[in-house]
Amino acid sequence: MPESLGDWKRTHNCGELRIENVGEEVCLMGWVGKRRDHGGVIFVDLRDRHGITQVVFRPDLKADTHAIAEGIRNEYVLAIKGRVEPRPEGMANPKLPTGAIDIECSDLRLLNESDTPPFAIEPDIDVNEELRLRYRYLDLRRPEMQQALLLRHRAAQETRQYLTAQGFLEIETPFLMKSTPEGARDYLVPSRVQRGHFYALPQSPQTYKQLLMIAGYDRYFQIVRCFRDEDLRGDRQPEFTQIDIEMAFVTEDDVMHFSEGLTRHLFARVIGVDIPAPIPRMTYREAMDRFGTDRPDTRFGLEIVDISDAAHASDFQVFKSVLASGGQVRGINAKGCANYSRKQIDDLTAFVARHGARGLAWIKVADKGLESSIVKFFPAQAQQMLRSALDAQIGDLLLFVADQPAIVATALGNLRLELARQQDLMRADHFSFLWVTQFPLLEFDDGEKRYVACHHPFTSPMEADLPMLETAPGDVRARAYDLVLNGNEVAGGSIRIHQREIQERVFRMLGISERESREKFGFLLDAFRYGAPPHGGIAFGYDRLIALMAGKAFIRDVIPFPKTNTAASLMDGAPSAVDSAQLRELGLRLS
Ligand code: AMO
Ligand code: AMP
Repeated sequence: MPESLGDWKRTHNCGELRIENVGEEVCLMGWVGKRRDHGGVIFVDLRDRHGITQVVFRPDLKADTHAIAEGIRNEYVLAIKGRVEPRPEGMANPKLPTGAIDIECSDLRLLNESDTPPFAIEPDIDVNEELRLRYRYLDLRRPEMQQALLLRHRAAQETRQYLTAQGFLEIETPFLMKSTPEGARDYLVPSRVQRGHFYALPQSPQTYKQLLMIAGYDRYFQIVRCFRDEDLRGDRQPEFTQIDIEMAFVTEDDVMHFSEGLTRHLFARVIGVDIPAPIPRMTYREAMDRFGTDRPDTRFGLEIVDISDAAHASDFQVFKSVLASGGQVRGINAKGCANYSRKQIDDLTAFVARHGARGLAWIKVADKGLESSIVKFFPAQAQQMLRSALDAQIGDLLLFVADQPAIVATALGNLRLELARQQDLMRADHFSFLWVTQFPLLEFDDGEKRYVACHHPFTSPMEADLPMLETAPGDVRARAYDLVLNGNEVAGGSIRIHQREIQERVFRMLGISERESREKFGFLLDAFRYGAPPHGGIAFGYDRLIALMAGKAFIRDVIPFPKTNTAASLMDGAPSAVDSAQLRELGLRLS
């Protein structure tokens, strides 16, 4: 029968006691980890989030107390009193911070029992994630989860400290807001008081932070939850956290400068990693050309190279016909991979096929010269062009895709990552940052047959490109920037439009009618009439940043209570049906 605490007070946590404490009378409370019975002498690892302390129960303990000790099992909750003793010669455990001592128990209270847990509360357990998510409160007892949450906590504190020192104010914004089209689908919340009307949960505080700039709070930040009803993956959750930042009277350089300062501060203070300054910058165009993606992983080379000139100089019809139809021929030098077998190359061919490529041409660089069934189509001069374009050395494997630019980029961009995986070039403890700038403002949505905003509709076009807004909308570049870390987009932002006329022109290009823009963004457009300062900002994907800092592959490994890929919480069963009375009250009926 579990007891209450009574007048017992915890004197120390389970990770605290050292050899210097020997002789002290202490009171510890925690969970039972390992328990070993050595013929009457019982050893228990008492555990809390601070650590583990060994407690010894000797047979000369009061009989009823020793009986309790005999009955305890894993995860029982104990309070113990006792004296700190040095462990006997040779029994110290140097791996444990408390390993030099143990506690000779003199009194014991069983605070609670536990069912047998569905998995061991230990590092590196091999259980399926569903079980971990269902019993998340047990999973969170495990040291690796505790370390992740501790890191997350420290990063939040350091963020607040750094930004506060830079003159930023932390300001909260509503969770119940007006539904505005921002990219993903909204989560809607029905209003009981105003039937048939809905709030939306914010996809981000984008409009509010711009309104705060108009209100004169020129340096704002918030560590804030965002909600997006979109298809989920390892780096996406339906609710996730941003470090949201907005500044007035700034240009791209200012926002990037502050973001770099924050990033460097966090990495230095939280994980002791020095990020070299400044973080390199690259335009979107260049990123697509060299890496086939707008979020290049720059931990390794394997860059994509255009070999159209060599292809022109060849007689290889596959390449020439693609070029003739406006396509590209590009390649990657897989350094030192000339020993790849037929099977390995076939696997790579199947891999790029999954990304849309119709084939993968290859050439091995041997000491006798180039080797491949397609070499015969390349006269000496074309071979020389290939070699110099790809910096080919003996032992290299050259891989090529010919197709329309978007397919070439996707196929080779992914091939590059696959080669890096195969060669183990993606080290988790190596942090390679990159700014990607000058994104396109708009992209054509083939499904909807209209232009949509690449970032969001409040992003400012580059001044030089403004005249093209109506004539060549797809070519207009935005004053937008993303911060990329090891191939992950960890932050994104832009300088905003602060002039009403330009905002209206952009809305027009997005096919948002005057009526619709009034309906959806009237409040913002009105605010722009009252002295909106030039402003811009950025938002860090906090979960992604923490996952990368913690060396985790998935953001759910750094989120205490995450959802699954079907946006469900296995622990509490959300989402769930509600009773009809609740629906009636809201004026809703299920179809
Ligand atoms: P954006 O939509 O690029 O910008 O989001 C900013 C950062 O948030 C992270 N992120 C996510 N993380 C986890 N799960 C998701 N579903 C998810 N979606 C996005 C990414 C991304 O870089 N209001 C603008 C910012 C601005 O312009 O200032 C915005 O939300 O790391
Ligand atoms: P084929 O002449 O069709 O047998 O192709 C010769 C080589 O070119 C094979 O290795 C194919 O995988 C490759 N190939 C075919 N189409 C393409 C393409 N669009 N891009 C790159 N390689 C291709």
